[in-house]
Amino acid sequence: MIDEETGGFSALPERGVPAPRVLDEIAALRAADRPTHGGRLFAYVYDPAVPGLDELAAAAYAASAHVNGLDPTAFPSLLAMENALVGAAARLLGAGPGSAAPDAVGSVTSGGTESLILAVKTARDARPDITAPRIVVPASGHAAFAKAAHYLRVALDVVPVSPQTLRPDPAEVAAAIGPDTVLVACSAPSYAHGVVDPVAEIAAAAEAVGVRCHVDACFGGWTLPYLRRLGAPVPAFDFAVPGVTSISVDLHKYAYAPKGVSVLLHRDPTLRAPQYFAYADWPGYTMINPTIASTRSGGPIAAAYATLRHLGDDGYLRLAALTRDAVTALAGAVRGVDGLRLMAEPESTVVCFTVTDPGLDLFVLVDELTARGWHTQPQLTYAGLPASVHLTVTAAVAPRVAEFGPDLADAVVAARTAGPVALPRELVALAGSLTPDALTPELVAGLAAGLGLGGGETGGGAAAGPPVPERMAPVNALLNAAPPALRERLLIEFVGLLQRPTWA
Ligand SMILES: Cc1ncc(COP(=O)(O)O)c(C=O)c1O
Repeated sequence: MIDEETGGFSALPERGVPAPRVLDEIAALRAADRPTHGGRLFAYVYDPAVPGLDELAAAAYAASAHVNGLDPTAFPSLLAMENALVGAAARLLGAGPGSAAPDAVGSVTSGGTESLILAVKTARDARPDITAPRIVVPASGHAAFAKAAHYLRVALDVVPVSPQTLRPDPAEVAAAIGPDTVLVACSAPSYAHGVVDPVAEIAAAAEAVGVRCHVDACFGGWTLPYLRRLGAPVPAFDFAVPGVTSISVDLHKYAYAPKGVSVLLHRDPTLRAPQYFAYADWPGYTMINPTIASTRSGGPIAAAYATLRHLGDDGYLRLAALTRDAVTALAGAVRGVDGLRLMAEPESTVVCFTVTDPGLDLFVLVDELTARGWHTQPQLTYAGLPASVHLTVTAAVAPRVAEFGPDLADAVVAARTAGPVALPRELVALAGSLTPDALTPELVAGLAAGLGLGGGETGGGAAAGPPVPERMAPVNALLNAAPPALRERLLIEFVGLLQRPTWA
C-alpha cells in the first residue's frame, strides 16, 4: 500500500482498491495513533468504555451520513433529532418548561469552537450600534474565544486569573466591561485546570449593564449536573443563574458522542435571532443557516442522538460516578509523589499538576509517562502560572487507575535521572529574544531539523505518516522558553511542515 519510491500513500490510485484492503490500510495507519480506548489517553478523546456503544453510534452515523442539514424541511429526521438534542441539553442546563428559562432555544454545531464563534457572532450582531465591539474573557477561557475574536474582528479584553484559585476576580471582570462590550464569557469549568468560574457574580455584573453573558460549558457542561447529583458542591453555573444569556455544551466530550457535535443554547429566541444567516439575493436556493457550515452531515447528529438515548440519564449518572472516583484516585496518586503539586483541588473531571523542584523537568516527565503508555497533555507556563500536566479524566480511566500511581512514581524517578532538557544556551536565548517577524524560513527549518520535526527520524516509521518526534520534551522546552506570540508563530511553522501533500 505504500508507494515504494515516495514512501507515501495515494488517495487517488490509478485503479480503485478493493474495500477490505482500503479498511486494512486505514487500520495500519491507525496503529500509529494514540489509543482512543483503554483509559490511558488523557486528552483529545472521551471514552465511556461502554460495550456496544461505538457500534451503535457508527450504525446511526452511517444511517444519516448522507442526510443534509442544509434544509430542515427536506430532512425532517434530522430536524427531529436536532431538536431532541437541544431539548436534552437545555433541560440538563436549567432550561425548559417550569424552569427559570422556559423559552430556551438552541442549535447543534460542529464543536465547541463553532459554538463559541457563534456565541460571539450573535452577541456582536445584536449590537450593530457598536462599531468596535469587544468581549471580556478570563485568561483561563478557552482559546476558541480568541479565535472567535480574531475571525470576527472583535477586540478581546482578557482578565487575569489568580494563580491561587485559577479563577478571575468578578470585580475585575466587572471593571473590564465597557461601553463597547458585547459579551462577557466565563467557563464551567475551564479546560486547563477544570475549575468553575464565579458565574453568578460575573453574570450579575454583565446583566447590570445590559451585556450578554456566555457560559462556556463545552468541556464539563454534561458532567457538572451529574456530579452535583452525586453530592459534589457544584456552584450554580447554568440558566438558573440570572444574567446567563447563552451556554455551550459539547456532546462530543462528556456526552460521549462521536466527534462533530456541540450545542449552543440561548435563553430565548430573541437572543438567538442574530445567530442566523439568511440570504435570498442570488439566483440559487434561498439560504438560511443557524451555523457556520451550510451543508451539514446528519451523521454526527444521528450518532449523538443514538448515544444519548442508549446511555440515558441513569447511564450518565453511573459514568459520572466512575469518572469522579477515577479523578479522586488520580489526584491521590499525584499527592503521593514528592516533587509534584496539584494545580487545584479537582472540582470536575480534570486533574492538573505541576512540578515543584528544578531537578524534575515537567516535559521530560510527560515523555516518561508516554513511554509507560500514559498519554498526558503538557501545558506551557503562562502569565505567572507554571507549566503543568493536564489529565482529562473519562469513565474509561476508572479500571486502569490503580496502575497510574506506580507508573507516575517510576516516571518521576526516570525524569529526575534523565535531568532537565538541555537545549543549547543560544537557542534558549534566541527563543526568549526573537520577535515572530524575525523568524526566517531558514531559521525555522534549522530549528525544526534540530528538534526532529518535519524530517529525519520518525515516531513510527514510514507507515506512520509524516515524521513526528517520539520525545517531545525538547520541542516543549523550546516553546516554553518563548513568549506566546513567538510560540504561536513557531507552532504555525512546525505544523505547516507536517501538513504537506503526499505526492505518491
Ligand atoms: C471549555 C472548552 N471550550 C471550548 C472548547 C473547544 O471545543 P472543540 O475542540 O470541540 O472545538 C474546548 C475544547 O477542549 C473546551 O474545553
